[in-house]
Amino acid sequence: MSNPAQPTSPQAFPAQRPTTTAEPLNVLLVGAGGREHALALKLCSSPRMGTLFATDLSNPGIAALAKPLDIPFDLKDPFRLQRWCINNRISLAVIGPEEPLCAGLADILGADTKGGGGGLGGAVPYVFGPSKEAAQLEGDKAFAKDVMRAGKVPTAESRTFTDHQAARRYLESRTEPHVIKAAGLAKGKGVIVPATQAQALEALDYIMLKRPFGAASDKVVIEEKLKGKEVSVLALCDGRTIYVLEPCQDHKRLSDGAKGPNTGGMGALCPTPAITDKLLDTVQRDILVPTIDALKRDGIDYKGVLYAGIMLTPGGPKVLEFNCRFGDPEAQALLARWDSDLLTDLVACADRRLDTVELKWKPGASVCLVIAAPGYPDAPVKNLTIEGLDEAAATEGVTIIHAGTARTSDHKLVTAGGRVLNVVATGDIPEHARQRAYAAAKKIRLPGMILRSDIGTDVIG
Ligand SMILES: Nc1ncnc2c1ncn2[C@@H]1O[C@H](COP(=O)(O)OP(=O)(O)O)[C@@H](O)[C@H]1O
Ligand SMILES: [Mg+2]
Repeated sequence: MSNPAQPTSPQAFPAQRPTTTAEPLNVLLVGAGGREHALALKLCSSPRMGTLFATDLSNPGIAALAKPLDIPFDLKDPFRLQRWCINNRISLAVIGPEEPLCAGLADILGADTKGGGGGLGGAVPYVFGPSKEAAQLEGDKAFAKDVMRAGKVPTAESRTFTDHQAARRYLESRTEPHVIKAAGLAKGKGVIVPATQAQALEALDYIMLKRPFGAASDKVVIEEKLKGKEVSVLALCDGRTIYVLEPCQDHKRLSDGAKGPNTGGMGALCPTPAITDKLLDTVQRDILVPTIDALKRDGIDYKGVLYAGIMLTPGGPKVLEFNCRFGDPEAQALLARWDSDLLTDLVACADRRLDTVELKWKPGASVCLVIAAPGYPDAPVKNLTIEGLDEAAATEGVTIIHAGTARTSDHKLVTAGGRVLNVVATGDIPEHARQRAYAAAKKIRLPGMILRSDIGTDVIG
């Protein structure tokens, strides 16, 4: 596969701001899932790492690497965190999940403060993650549709509704069942892909009348159902340069053969052979660049990860959705192959100097398996004892990531969430990575654990 990570910007090399390259950088990590544990591991391998602080140490993997804040972390009081960052000389803030980004945490941490933050202008000189406005690409699916329309970005035909009756009339006038999407953040549960028109109407009533997602159901996007293979294309963007990362396959369904309910993701493969280099170029040229440009025309600069969920339709790649952060579990697979210094790369991105770094990838492939607790996704069982992690981690090429685990007072490891662990493996080819990952996963003992057996194969979904 040719290196897709070519900066696209024709613009001039920006003036370099003073950096503290000689000094170790203190980093604040926001988020507590598998994605953040993988980010923490990779950041801590950097020779430039000072102290890693994390807003949430409930994840034992993160707790082993990071120091706690000495204040409670509350998204409702972001200015307290801002002051804390100044006092603790935080140079880089890495915001993992979508909620704090959509709430505007990147803006507040990066905001200018009188006399604050290492002399580089903002409270935190380098904030990795988009602004509140830019994060609407994920936080408001109707906004994303408007941006795509403005940028002539290929995506499913859609209409947005706030009125239930009008939405129903529109849906009834369609001949094919359409996809119903709550426009706001709904933790991956706000989209219903119906098989029949009756199911589509039921989904609409459920989202708009029952309002299971609260304000996230105020607006609903009704869109044409697309057919094809689904891939995840992630890019680093700094407002002027786009660096496309290796494409990933996310396995979203709970069970083998892409059966069962939708989940947050049961595994990932990087790179995925499902998308050719040529199609990846098309995604960059026809989707990523015009999206960033359309935002720019509205005065919005996109900095951070832009994640495009893409359907490879017979009519070419089309956008299913955008996310404003690394995917989970795609991040785990991507970071296993990330061969350049992540800390340097994220600082360069936050500092609009992406064109000065070269991202390097370990050759071969990586596979991330998700081990979920019994009962996932509806009612995952908590407090089940997990054993065998050390044996699993001793497998060559394997890293174990904590996603939803906790330590009891007597130091036992137990389940504390739906997706419990990630087993990440690299290999020369996907099959080697798969074999290593499954060999390691076999050593993990968790009663009733859910693990798909076809992650990293050519099963799509
Ligand atoms: N227009 C569409 N046609 C067919 N499938 C879709 C469409 N939109 C979404 N999907 C399916 O539903 C899943 C979830 O939708 P998505 O827009 O990614 O929302 P979210 O991740 O916020 O739940 C997608 O991964 C895809 O499998
Ligand atoms: Mg999605």
